[in-house]
Amino acid sequence: MSQAVRFEDKVVIVTGAGGGLGRAHALLFAKHGARVVVNDLGGSTHGEGANASAADKVVAEIREAGGTAVASHDSVTDGEKIVQAALDSFGRIDVVVNNAGILRDKTFHKMEDADWDLVYKVHVEGAYKVTRAAWPHLREQNYGRVIFTASTSGIYGNFGQSNYGMAKLGLYGLTRTLAIEGRKNNILVNAIAPTGGTRMTEGLIPPQVFEQLKPELVSPLVVYLGSEQCQDTSGLFEVGGGWMGKVRWERSLGAGFDPRAGFSPEDVAAHWQQIVDFDNAAHPKDNMEALREMMANLQKYVV
Ligand SMILES: NC(=O)c1ccc[n+]([C@@H]2O[C@H](COP(=O)([O-])OP(=O)(O)OC[C@H]3O[C@@H](n4cnc5c(N)ncnc54)[C@H](O)[C@@H]3O)[C@@H](O)[C@H]2O)c1
Repeated sequence: MSQAVRFEDKVVIVTGAGGGLGRAHALLFAKHGARVVVNDLGGSTHGEGANASAADKVVAEIREAGGTAVASHDSVTDGEKIVQAALDSFGRIDVVVNNAGILRDKTFHKMEDADWDLVYKVHVEGAYKVTRAAWPHLREQNYGRVIFTASTSGIYGNFGQSNYGMAKLGLYGLTRTLAIEGRKNNILVNAIAPTGGTRMTEGLIPPQVFEQLKPELVSPLVVYLGSEQCQDTSGLFEVGGGWMGKVRWERSLGAGFDPRAGFSPEDVAAHWQQIVDFDNAAHPKDNMEALREMMANLQKYVV
């Protein structure tokens, strides 16, 4: 039988929790006993404006259901204020769910600096600021869970989303290194690439499918990743519509050349099929494992 996932002594920050996926995460954390900081700036999907009512409504929903929550109306780019709200209200912070996000979709040839910068600011700098402010507290108490929100648009690319894809896969790069740095202090760090029917995807997903992709179907994974039971770190999970799975890097066995004798672009061309062949592929988990084939090639040719 599975163990109950509970958060009675835990404080959780969910950014961008005034609607969509973040709201669903916040409600589920609260249902499982967490005290929740519901952060939301309350602007448009394009990152314009602000409105305190978004976060306030979700706090009211949580309280009506018997849970404990406070609102934070700051932008994630002022991350230290959001963490301070958790400390002021609840005296601690255990889990950070970096979820706030916007879209400024444009093909790359029409991309303007403002679209590139704003998407970077909200997704990357915002997640950095909130997590950076929480980090000393997580280290101090030797416990923490951090979840970043990536996207399949970053993993696989998506037309018109060069700025968004850059930001979303950047967050996975951040996940990998924070997982390494956090491990000794029991701070586990994972990323999700969700799909959900929210205002962000309205009009992009066919209406019947949109209805079925309920945001609530993403949250059980997020709450599990935020729990003590979860011992995984450095993971990337695709999730939506009641399905979830883990993503990993795969690298071909590759081709080795004699580094002393030298080799030409023509040699690369002649071995191309071998270079891109995924039979007997490797799945390196860290830098050391990744470098193994390269080092083996050097040794092979050392006399
Ligand atoms: N819905 C999907 O299918 C999907 C797919 C991939 C990734 N995502 C990511 O999931 C996250 C949630 O998106 P959603 O679909 O629920 O969209 P949403 O627009 O409903 O929710 C995003 C929330 O973030 C808030 N926000 C925006 N900028 C903020 C800021 N500077 N500070 C604080 N709050 C801010 C918004 O007010 C909004 O409530 C985003 O990071 C998004 O990029 C969503």
